[in-house]
Amino acid sequence: MQVHTVATVPFTDQKPGTSGLRKRVPTFQKAHYLENFVQSIFDTIAAPPGATLVLGGDGRYYNRAAIQIILKMAAAYGFGHVLVGKGGILSTPAASCVIRKYATYGGIILSASHNPGGPDGDFGIKYNTANGGPAPEKITEAIFAASKKIAQYRIADAADVALDTLGDSRLGDMTVSVIDPVGDYAGLMESLFDFAAIRTLLEGGFRIKFDAMHAVNGPYAREIFVRRLGAPADSMMNAVPLPDFGGGHPDPNLTYAHELVEILYGDDAPDFGAASDGDGDRNMILGKHFFVTPSDSLAILAANAHLVPGYKQGLAGIARSMPTSAAADRVAAALNVPCYETPTGWKFFGNLMDAGKVTLCGEESFGTGSDHIREKDGLWAVLFWLNILAVRKQSVEAIVREHWARFGRNVYSRHDYEGIPNDAANGVMKLLHDSFASLRGAQFGHLQVKLCDDFSYTDPVDGSVSTGQGVRIIFTDDSRIVFRLSGTGTEGATLRIYLEAFEPDVSKHHLDAQQALATLISIALKISELRERTGRERPTVIT
Ligand code: G1P
Ligand code: ZN
Repeated sequence: MQVHTVATVPFTDQKPGTSGLRKRVPTFQKAHYLENFVQSIFDTIAAPPGATLVLGGDGRYYNRAAIQIILKMAAAYGFGHVLVGKGGILSTPAASCVIRKYATYGGIILSASHNPGGPDGDFGIKYNTANGGPAPEKITEAIFAASKKIAQYRIADAADVALDTLGDSRLGDMTVSVIDPVGDYAGLMESLFDFAAIRTLLEGGFRIKFDAMHAVNGPYAREIFVRRLGAPADSMMNAVPLPDFGGGHPDPNLTYAHELVEILYGDDAPDFGAASDGDGDRNMILGKHFFVTPSDSLAILAANAHLVPGYKQGLAGIARSMPTSAAADRVAAALNVPCYETPTGWKFFGNLMDAGKVTLCGEESFGTGSDHIREKDGLWAVLFWLNILAVRKQSVEAIVREHWARFGRNVYSRHDYEGIPNDAANGVMKLLHDSFASLRGAQFGHLQVKLCDDFSYTDPVDGSVSTGQGVRIIFTDDSRIVFRLSGTGTEGATLRIYLEAFEPDVSKHHLDAQQALATLISIALKISELRERTGRERPTVIT
């Protein structure tokens, strides 16, 4: 095998964000751009000669071309074996599953998650470590540092690898195994959930609709829901993955999954609806004419985990990201297990799961998962809900309302202002920081500010400290407003405002969240001067 050493110069913008490096496709197509970043990963992780790597992506535009480049660079680097999903496809949870099952050195996942795809859409790349989870900050920082110094990369001069036939082939000294992307993952799901009970539920006339949003989970959903659980084929929608996700925004929320939302809120609605995102790790859960807030979903899974075979032995603990509502904390308290509050991003859960401190984790951003892998997991969350529904034989809405009646309701909403100029977004955050002193103790109507800070986190396992993780304004009644800048966007800035209030009174649980949070919303707009500084009258997305 001939290896070329190619001289290159650093790009200055290869800093991984909340979840890997994400840029527009044309950026990744620039000469040496992908290669520089991949070499920076390899130089950082220092894999021993002959190590095994997992490789796959969500099938978005540029996936196949990137896979070929990475395979040739992996061979040049000295990997002995690469497991690549057929067609270059692996959902993010399936990649995590495969890394763990075959105890590989790590894996590279190609995805920009829920961001749109296509020639002008987004692309992304991230490295996952041997535990199957996203590389922790100290590694992503080291990759960034390497990318700023890189002077050359190495790539094998070889023919493209055939990705569409299962089996092994050679690329120089390296073996490439093209694996079934679905089988291992589907098997893991079957080991956690009561498939027989779910099948009985579905055969009994319980109707579901799953929207794969033209993204990676289509084949996974067909295998699991239709083939293994007996759901009718037409209960799957948008189940053929497309490189541009059909021109859509593959993000399972009330705005972007409106096709599914209309069905679940329409006449003759099915009993249960769910969607997942571009790379299959997010989920949205709907009942008939009912939306389950992701923060509530985490709490409800935790409260009902004893009904599910894979979790009936109990939970070690629960973790949620800081902006996620405290609904899960109430369940943790009732179960007498610890609840951890981490910064935004799944990478912060890995240490807690590895140390056996938590079983379930979740984020308000439609992410839920457990220690079965080290990524959030869209289909896992759907199966968990179906398992609970099969045992409890109640509607989704009834289960949520009973939960609120028992624990109280953490009324919650997130307002996103997408694509605003960076200067305006930074100005809002600076204003908030500059206002900390005057905000502390300030009175807004019946609400008084108890605490106001920029969240920082000390990892209880390795002691690493992460600062600047979001501005929190917490009131004496524990309601709160959180401001954060997104770390996953590729155009301008996205400012997120998270709003939460606790309502113990059942007679008020029917209230619409926006109505119930109106006071907090107006305080948030006032103290941030958001409208004045951005010219935006309303959020782009409300969840
Ligand atoms: C967003 C979500 C965050 C999630 C991440 C990856 O990051 O808010 O919870 O972990 O996507 O799916 P953000 O854009 O807010 O940095
Ligand atoms: Zn995702």
